[in-house]
Amino acid sequence: MKYGYFDDSSREYVITTPKTPLPWINYLGCEDFFSIKSNTSGGYCFYKDAKLLRLTRYRYNNVPFDDGGHYFYIKDGDTVWNPGWQPVQTELDSYECRHGMGYSIFTGVKNGLKAQVTSFVPMGYTCEVNKLTLTNESDTVKNFSVFSYVEFCLWNAMDDMTNFQRNFSTGEVEVMGSVIIHKTEYRERRRHYAIFGVNTPINGFDTDRDSFLGAYRGYHNPQVVEDGKSKNSMASGWAPIGSHQITLSLQPGETKTYIYVLGYCENPADQKWESQGVVNKAPAKALMEAFATEAQADAALDHLKEYWSQLLGKFHVESDYTEMNRMVNVWNQYQCMVTFNMSRSASYFESGIGRGMGFRDSCQDLFGFVHLIPEKARQRIIDIASTQMEDGSAYHQYQPLTKRGNSDIGSGFNDDPLWLIAAVAAYIKETGDYSILEESVPFDNKEETAVPLMEHLRRSFNFTVTHRGPHKLPLIGRADWNDCLNLNCFSSEPGESFQTSGPSEGPVAESVFIAAMFVKYGKEYAMLCQRQGLDKEADDALAQVDDMYQTILTAGWDGEWFVRAYDAYENKVGSHECEDGKIFIEPQGFCVLAGVGIKEGHANKALASVEKILDTKYGIVLLQPAYKDYHLELGEVSSYPPGYKENAGIFCHNNPWISIAETCVGHGNRAFDVYRKICPAYIENISEIHRTEPYVYSQMIAGKDAKNFGEAKNSWLTGTAAWTFLNVSQAILGIQPDYDGLVVDPCIPSELSGFTITRKFRDVTYTIEVQNPNKSQKGISKLIVDGVTVDGNQIPYDASKKQVHVVAVLDA
Ligand code: BGC
Ligand code: NOJ
Repeated sequence: MKYGYFDDSSREYVITTPKTPLPWINYLGCEDFFSIKSNTSGGYCFYKDAKLLRLTRYRYNNVPFDDGGHYFYIKDGDTVWNPGWQPVQTELDSYECRHGMGYSIFTGVKNGLKAQVTSFVPMGYTCEVNKLTLTNESDTVKNFSVFSYVEFCLWNAMDDMTNFQRNFSTGEVEVMGSVIIHKTEYRERRRHYAIFGVNTPINGFDTDRDSFLGAYRGYHNPQVVEDGKSKNSMASGWAPIGSHQITLSLQPGETKTYIYVLGYCENPADQKWESQGVVNKAPAKALMEAFATEAQADAALDHLKEYWSQLLGKFHVESDYTEMNRMVNVWNQYQCMVTFNMSRSASYFESGIGRGMGFRDSCQDLFGFVHLIPEKARQRIIDIASTQMEDGSAYHQYQPLTKRGNSDIGSGFNDDPLWLIAAVAAYIKETGDYSILEESVPFDNKEETAVPLMEHLRRSFNFTVTHRGPHKLPLIGRADWNDCLNLNCFSSEPGESFQTSGPSEGPVAESVFIAAMFVKYGKEYAMLCQRQGLDKEADDALAQVDDMYQTILTAGWDGEWFVRAYDAYENKVGSHECEDGKIFIEPQGFCVLAGVGIKEGHANKALASVEKILDTKYGIVLLQPAYKDYHLELGEVSSYPPGYKENAGIFCHNNPWISIAETCVGHGNRAFDVYRKICPAYIENISEIHRTEPYVYSQMIAGKDAKNFGEAKNSWLTGTAAWTFLNVSQAILGIQPDYDGLVVDPCIPSELSGFTITRKFRDVTYTIEVQNPNKSQKGISKLIVDGVTVDGNQIPYDASKKQVHVVAVLDA
């Protein structure tokens, strides 16, 4: 069952009923100001950091769910309704929500009145613009009122939810014409305030929530709207809000448009503070003036659309596979931008408070983002590397606003350092910019420790070399990619967290997954050494990689698949010797994509075992059999009921590893099958089972052991976005950025007769026509670059060209 459809030409997903199984959201903003918008106008906004600079309040895990957002109420006679249906839930005569690239459009019609709200965050501004267009579609005059509504958060979202004894007495507002100013904290000279204004004189306002709603009422039945009259309330403490009343009359066929601006304002750092609490209104006025007219708002929206056209023009595929095209060309890249911006901080499943930017997460996110805006990727790499410790380990997370490592969480996830090498290699391959390696970058943000970025990579590499266990495999530490594999848990009291209960590293527990990472990214490190003229270091690194490769083939091989790990008692995890958790997905995918065991025949065996034991109709589960009981020696993984999350859920993030691995052994049909099973557009018509948005990936789909098999959770912020884009663009469609040019090496279903890709690489735009006349799956037999046949499958990079036309023919 579907709840909408893809409108490919306008790059929108159109939701045709407000009653989606879960709120289906969109992200507005791609610079510093962000707003999360559900299909019924729920959500909130923030500047830079969802924890520390939250403008509007949102209550998670609420009932009814998704209650709270940026709303418009229409009071037309006795009927009160909202264009996005929530929160009053008056049945609409027609409803539509279009989620587009950085904007959402809500259209509701009731009793002959049409209200359309176009919400977006304009480029270059720190605000959300809401363009409200009201049209009288009836044949009689309409007299009615519109009430806007936002509820301000007192900036620090954590404090806002906990420190009521203080916060009920700090809220302050000011009203300047049609602009409501939320100035809580300004008294403390924080430099910032928020505004909510509209470009027309108003008939009234409210700034105090309880006056607006009335005692014991809610968003669904505010007293002021019911009465049809604002109270001009001034908040003093308690809960400041912003609400404007506009009363108007529309002739049949007449339309009126208003522009609302909800924005973040900041005074210049050197501002003189005249007296405490007196707001410098210049930034507010400037913001309102920027969107004083409909034409200004429209121009800003056009600019945003143009920005996205230009970004998405960097990778575009035309093929017979409509679903793949729409994911590759629009939604997958769009989600990569969102994961780049948010890491794992703010979604409808991440509160914006708990987690900031993840070290490993943000490194991986770059795989799907670096081609879009390489300069931002560069800065991100520097920010991430600045949270690395001198010994090569790393803070697991950092706060987006301060960019400082989060010491509550600390370090100890032993895969983290290697992801930095992966990110830097991806950046250099995309851009050819080796200068990043010379960039001076501190450890733990302490300027005096700054060294060239290359030295950070060296310490990353050496961290694994110097942290190996009894089988010579890398020590796992608190966990590797699988956060829930906590093999150094020796004691756990009720209420105690898994990851702090044992020694942070432990003397023995080892990870085959990190070993595979080391082979893959250790080779990248050696290549970077070589390209820097460090031949001896490159040779030494390759010797280490080779040693690890052999170790995996011995200590890491179980007979039919790769072992997952060794626990702190030196028992195997992910082996036929185990009762549950006999086979895990991660080492099968990562060992093979790192090239381990391909020539020895292990790769095919491991992938066959995945297909036989882990595959399901909705995707590949993380492990089998699911852990039935809690195992202290394994940690959080066994704390989940069978089929959920890391305990045998379909953890989407590592499904593309299997797909990539299949391409490494030439299985184009199977690689695509793995891709298709979890690809949102391909499963749009089971939205009632899948439940999360059909245009983006979710972190997890419940596995076959779970009651709700096929139900997804944690949509949007997942490494699945970047890894899938890497998979489909580089492994399946085979367009691989490399140090000396684009490599063309597709591995596709044999039925696909060909496809055409437009790819902007550095400053050159390539049109690559891949032909598959003989139903092949892999192997380029001919590469013609601008009419000239070249050897091999790499397009030599020539910066003097602006357009290059390539024909690639797959083998018979
Ligand atoms: C989840 C993991 C997640 C981790 C983050 C765990 O509870 O199961 O998927 O990575 O929390 O801290
Ligand atoms: C989600 C986390 O964000 C990611 O870092 C981790 O690798 C996976 N969960 C698996 O545990």
